[in-house]
Amino acid sequence: MKIIMANDHAAVELKNELKVWLLDQGHEVEDLGIGDGEKADYPDKGEQAARLFMKGGYDYGVLCCGTGIGISISANKVKGIRCALPQNIFAAEAAKEHNDCQFIAFGGRIEYPDKPTDMLNAFLSAKFVGDRHQRRVDKIMAIEN
Ligand code: RB5
Repeated sequence: MKIIMANDHAAVELKNELKVWLLDQGHEVEDLGIGDGEKADYPDKGEQAARLFMKGGYDYGVLCCGTGIGISISANKVKGIRCALPQNIFAAEAAKEHNDCQFIAFGGRIEYPDKPTDMLNAFLSAKFVGDRHQRRVDKIMAIEN
Protein backbone atom coordinates (compact mmCIF):
# COMPACT_ATOMS: atom_id res chain seq x y z
CA MET A 1 0.00 0.00 0.00
CA LYS A 2 1.00 3.63 -0.41
CA ILE A 3 1.26 5.45 2.89
CA ILE A 4 1.84 9.09 3.74
CA MET A 5 3.75 9.83 6.92
CA ALA A 6 4.49 13.07 8.73
CA ASN A 7 5.87 14.05 12.11
CA ASP A 8 7.17 16.91 14.18
CA HIS A 9 10.37 17.08 16.25
CA ALA A 10 8.74 15.33 19.24
CA ALA A 11 8.28 12.06 17.38
CA VAL A 12 11.23 11.53 15.04
CA GLU A 13 12.20 8.23 16.66
CA LEU A 14 8.66 6.85 16.63
CA LYS A 15 8.12 7.95 13.00
CA ASN A 16 11.35 6.18 12.04
CA GLU A 17 10.33 3.01 13.88
CA LEU A 18 6.93 2.94 12.17
CA LYS A 19 8.46 3.79 8.80
CA VAL A 20 10.99 0.96 9.00
CA TRP A 21 8.18 -1.42 9.95
CA LEU A 22 6.02 -0.26 7.02
CA LEU A 23 8.88 -0.62 4.55
CA ASP A 24 9.68 -4.09 5.95
CA GLN A 25 6.06 -5.05 5.30
CA GLY A 26 6.49 -4.04 1.66
CA HIS A 27 4.57 -0.77 1.78
CA GLU A 28 5.58 2.36 -0.08
CA VAL A 29 6.10 5.39 2.18
CA GLU A 30 5.96 9.08 1.29
CA ASP A 31 7.61 10.73 4.29
CA LEU A 32 6.69 14.40 4.69
CA GLY A 33 8.11 14.50 8.17
CA ILE A 34 11.36 15.71 9.61
CA GLY A 35 14.51 14.02 10.89
CA ASP A 36 16.83 14.46 13.86
CA GLY A 37 17.88 18.03 14.56
CA GLU A 38 15.05 19.56 12.53
CA LYS A 39 11.98 21.40 13.87
CA ALA A 40 8.43 21.52 12.55
CA ASP A 41 5.07 22.69 13.86
CA TYR A 42 2.60 19.81 14.01
CA PRO A 43 -0.31 21.78 12.42
CA ASP A 44 1.81 22.31 9.29
CA LYS A 45 2.71 18.63 9.06
CA GLY A 46 -0.80 17.34 9.78
CA GLU A 47 -2.34 19.66 7.21
CA GLN A 48 0.31 18.94 4.57
CA ALA A 49 -0.16 15.16 4.85
CA ALA A 50 -3.96 15.38 4.90
CA ARG A 51 -4.15 17.71 1.88
CA LEU A 52 -1.81 15.51 -0.15
CA PHE A 53 -3.86 12.43 0.78
CA MET A 54 -7.07 14.10 -0.38
CA LYS A 55 -5.52 14.68 -3.82
CA GLY A 56 -5.66 10.88 -4.21
CA GLY A 57 -3.26 8.05 -4.89
CA TYR A 58 -2.62 7.08 -1.26
CA ASP A 59 -4.16 4.38 0.91
CA TYR A 60 -3.47 5.62 4.44
CA GLY A 61 -1.75 8.28 6.52
CA VAL A 62 0.35 7.83 9.66
CA LEU A 63 1.07 10.92 11.77
CA CYS A 64 3.26 11.37 14.84
CA CYS A 65 3.81 14.26 17.25
CA GLY A 66 4.58 14.36 20.97
CA THR A 67 1.14 13.19 22.03
CA GLY A 68 -0.45 12.55 18.64
CA ILE A 69 -3.14 15.02 19.71
CA GLY A 70 -2.12 18.19 17.87
CA ILE A 71 -1.25 16.50 14.59
CA SER A 72 -4.48 14.44 14.61
CA ILE A 73 -6.61 17.53 15.32
CA SER A 74 -4.85 19.33 12.44
CA ALA A 75 -5.39 16.49 9.96
CA ASN A 76 -9.03 16.22 11.00
CA LYS A 77 -9.58 19.87 10.02
CA VAL A 78 -8.98 18.94 6.37
CA LYS A 79 -12.27 18.07 4.70
CA GLY A 80 -12.67 14.34 4.15
CA ILE A 81 -10.12 13.16 6.71
CA ARG A 82 -10.90 10.87 9.62
CA CYS A 83 -7.79 10.58 11.75
CA ALA A 84 -7.82 8.26 14.77
CA LEU A 85 -5.74 8.63 17.92
CA PRO A 86 -5.96 5.12 19.39
CA GLN A 87 -5.04 4.16 22.95
CA ASN A 88 -4.21 0.52 22.20
CA ILE A 89 -4.58 -2.32 19.66
CA PHE A 90 -8.32 -2.63 20.29
CA ALA A 91 -8.94 1.04 19.48
CA ALA A 92 -6.61 0.95 16.46
CA GLU A 93 -8.64 -1.94 15.00
CA ALA A 94 -11.96 -0.25 15.78
CA ALA A 95 -10.74 2.96 14.13
CA LYS A 96 -10.95 1.08 10.83
CA GLU A 97 -13.79 -1.38 11.57
CA HIS A 98 -16.19 1.23 12.96
CA ASN A 99 -14.90 4.65 11.90
CA ASP A 100 -13.34 3.85 8.52
CA CYS A 101 -10.40 6.11 9.36
CA GLN A 102 -7.82 6.73 6.66
CA PHE A 103 -5.35 8.27 9.10
CA ILE A 104 -3.89 7.12 12.39
CA ALA A 105 -1.85 9.21 14.81
CA PHE A 106 0.62 8.28 17.54
CA GLY A 107 2.49 10.12 20.28
CA GLY A 108 6.25 9.83 20.51
CA ARG A 109 6.12 10.87 24.17
CA ILE A 110 3.31 8.46 25.07
CA GLU A 111 3.82 5.09 26.74
CA TYR A 112 1.40 2.75 25.01
CA PRO A 113 0.27 -0.53 26.56
CA ASP A 114 0.83 -2.14 23.16
CA LYS A 115 3.66 -1.71 20.67
CA PRO A 116 2.85 1.09 18.19
CA THR A 117 3.87 -1.22 15.33
CA ASP A 118 1.29 -3.77 16.56
CA MET A 119 -1.31 -1.00 16.77
CA LEU A 120 -0.47 0.09 13.24
CA ASN A 121 -0.64 -3.50 12.05
CA ALA A 122 -4.09 -3.91 13.65
CA PHE A 123 -5.27 -0.72 11.95
CA LEU A 124 -3.98 -1.63 8.49
CA SER A 125 -5.21 -5.24 8.70
CA ALA A 126 -8.74 -4.41 9.87
CA LYS A 127 -11.66 -3.99 7.45
CA PHE A 128 -14.48 -1.45 7.66
CA VAL A 129 -17.64 -3.26 8.77
CA GLY A 130 -20.10 -0.93 6.99
CA ASP A 131 -23.84 -1.32 7.69
CA ARG A 132 -24.83 0.70 10.80
CA HIS A 133 -21.26 1.99 11.01
CA GLN A 134 -21.58 3.43 7.51
CA ARG A 135 -24.62 5.40 8.69
CA ARG A 136 -22.61 6.81 11.59
CA VAL A 137 -19.59 7.66 9.44
CA ASP A 138 -21.96 9.41 7.00
CA LYS A 139 -23.26 11.45 9.94
CA ILE A 140 -19.70 12.44 10.89
CA MET A 141 -18.96 13.56 7.36
CA ALA A 142 -22.26 15.48 7.15
CA ILE A 143 -21.01 17.67 10.01
CA GLU A 144 -18.41 19.05 7.58
CA ASN A 145 -21.15 20.39 5.34
C1 RB5 B 1 5.65 19.76 20.54
O1 RB5 B 1 6.43 20.16 21.59
C2 RB5 B 1 4.37 19.13 21.05
O2 RB5 B 1 3.54 20.11 21.60
C3 RB5 B 1 3.66 18.39 19.95
O3 RB5 B 1 4.50 17.42 19.44
C4 RB5 B 1 2.37 17.67 20.29
O4 RB5 B 1 2.50 16.92 21.45
C5 RB5 B 1 1.16 18.47 20.26
O5 RB5 B 1 0.03 17.99 20.31
